Amino acid sequence: MRDWCLIWFICLALISLGACIKCYRCDNKKNGACGEEFKSYQFTAYECIDQNMKCGKQTQLPLEDGWVGVMRSCYSLGSLPGINETNGCHYWINPSDNFTALICFCDTDMCNVGSMQGLASEAITFTFVLSAVILFMQSFLWS
Ligand SMILES: *[C@@H]1O[C@H](CO)[C@@H](O)[C@H](O)[C@H]1NC(C)=O
Ligand SMILES: *[C@@H]1O[C@H](CO)[C@@H](O)[C@H](O)[C@H]1NC(C)=O
Repeated sequence: MRDWCLIWFICLALISLGACIKCYRCDNKKNGACGEEFKSYQFTAYECIDQNMKCGKQTQLPLEDGWVGVMRSCYSLGSLPGINETNGCHYWINPSDNFTALICFCDTDMCNVGSMQGLASEAITFTFVLSAVILFMQSFLWS
């Protein structure tokens, strides 16, 4: 049983380290279900092509008619000049054309779903709580 626990933890560690993360990639110009009210069941998450990537969500400023552009994708670190790439949401102004957007980053699989504030850390906490509960139940049942 101890061995089994060890295997469980190793698996968990490997899953959470992951080679490359998976992110949703969509654009509400092409599919409205990618917008603020994200209908994740309409999309599949893609594995990002390299390890130096996070999931991102870009929310543009409302246009004159009130339409708000939303894009979700893998984000390659260092690709937007001057942006704060820590997890969470940051306003970004492109120095070359003053294009402004709110850009959110997170670094767990399929995390670029909703408003994203604090979502990554919640997912990690959830994983650990779940594994603690499972371990507890196993030792309870088998002892
Ligand atoms: C980036 O954002 C984080 C949290 O939003 C903040 O703590 C940090 O100081 C920021 N870093 C820079 C260089 O602005
Ligand atoms: C961006 O905005 C600043 C301040 O409003 C302005 O001085 C600058 O000319 C703008 N740059 C471009 C490329 O529009």
